[in-house]
Amino acid sequence: MAQNGSGARDGGTVLHVLGARPNFVKAAPVVRALDGRGAAQAVVHTGQHYDERMSEIFFTELGLPEPDVNLGVGSGGHAAQTAALLVGLEEQFVARAPRLVVVYGDVNSTVAAALAAAKLHIPVAHVEAGLRSFDMTMPEEVNRRLTDQLADLCLVTSPEAIGHLANEGVPVDRIHLVGNPMIDTLLANLDRFDTERARAEYDLPERYVLATMHRPANVDDPATAAELVGHLHGVADLADVVIPVHPRGRAALLAAGLDRHPRLHVREPLGYLDFLAAVRGAAAVVTDSGGLQEETTILGVPCLTVRPNTERPITISHGTNRLVAPAELVPEARKALAAGRPADATGPLRTPPLWDGQAGPRIADVIMEFTRG
Ligand code: UD1
Repeated sequence: MAQNGSGARDGGTVLHVLGARPNFVKAAPVVRALDGRGAAQAVVHTGQHYDERMSEIFFTELGLPEPDVNLGVGSGGHAAQTAALLVGLEEQFVARAPRLVVVYGDVNSTVAAALAAAKLHIPVAHVEAGLRSFDMTMPEEVNRRLTDQLADLCLVTSPEAIGHLANEGVPVDRIHLVGNPMIDTLLANLDRFDTERARAEYDLPERYVLATMHRPANVDDPATAAELVGHLHGVADLADVVIPVHPRGRAALLAAGLDRHPRLHVREPLGYLDFLAAVRGAAAVVTDSGGLQEETTILGVPCLTVRPNTERPITISHGTNRLVAPAELVPEARKALAAGRPADATGPLRTPPLWDGQAGPRIADVIMEFTRG
């Protein structure tokens, strides 16, 4: 990767701020496409995610360049974590004087980077702008709204986001519909998702359900976590369930007896390739993740999202996603398993517009034009 710590090159340095697992998946095609255009780039890892299986393995598997620096902010309450992010990122931005700061998604590292950059009058590009759950109890919704207000480039993955941004007063010339870079990564790696190996490695039968659960609303309160565990056991009565457990909620879910069902297989977090292999081979997915709603849409795997809302409604209108209340989980899983996967289960169904594997190049074009200006 062309690098330039001084920021003295033609268009100046494009500085990517990455912090949490989904950021890495979205950034990989953008960094690659900018590299192909000769852009000077730097990567600042905030250290929001730091376990080897939450961070490093993604850099290795996705061919992301080693970060120029890792701020090591680690975990903490929202205030403590965001404050540490602001201080660390401001120091980096002052020292590196980038031409543009690129932020991804909706995690705490995203909003902190946007705020620190805006206060220094450094332009910000937000990849995955304009998604809205309209649920301000979700930390991600707060992060998204604030980041979009601060961004000079709102790079949009889904058409309805354009209307959300316009309604919030974002000038239309800042908004660019570019497609979904998370799907670029998925399509680029399809051949590497080895479902047979995943089955053998996790000792799974032909038909299994893959589950993930990490949202604060589902796992932070022990009573809610216990209710959810009861329903997951109900799903395991129907088919084997494999659940790679995110560190958040691990203790609460295990305390509620998650692993006390013979057909529920609790696993450590997986790397990108193993995880997507397991998703691809699943009869159905049960989740509260954002990205997985999108990935199952393209892989044609039925997805039951245990949330009251989604900022990704296109995965319902165009994909395989369905929102379910915890109490609906077992009957909905029964239906999904009985229906089986759609006929074209390995390829796109009605693919959302521009989820075509070319979002990275489109984003790079917008960024190159902006930094030349
Ligand atoms: C964050 C994002 C969420 C995203 C998720 C993807 C915010 C507010 N939330 O949630 O939108 O869906 O990442 O994974 O930014 N932990 C570890 N090791 C790690 C990272 C975290 O043990 O490498 C544990 C710590 O106990 C930590 C907890 O997980 O307190 C939560 O981590 P945090 O980064 O605050 O939020 P996530 O739940 O991961």
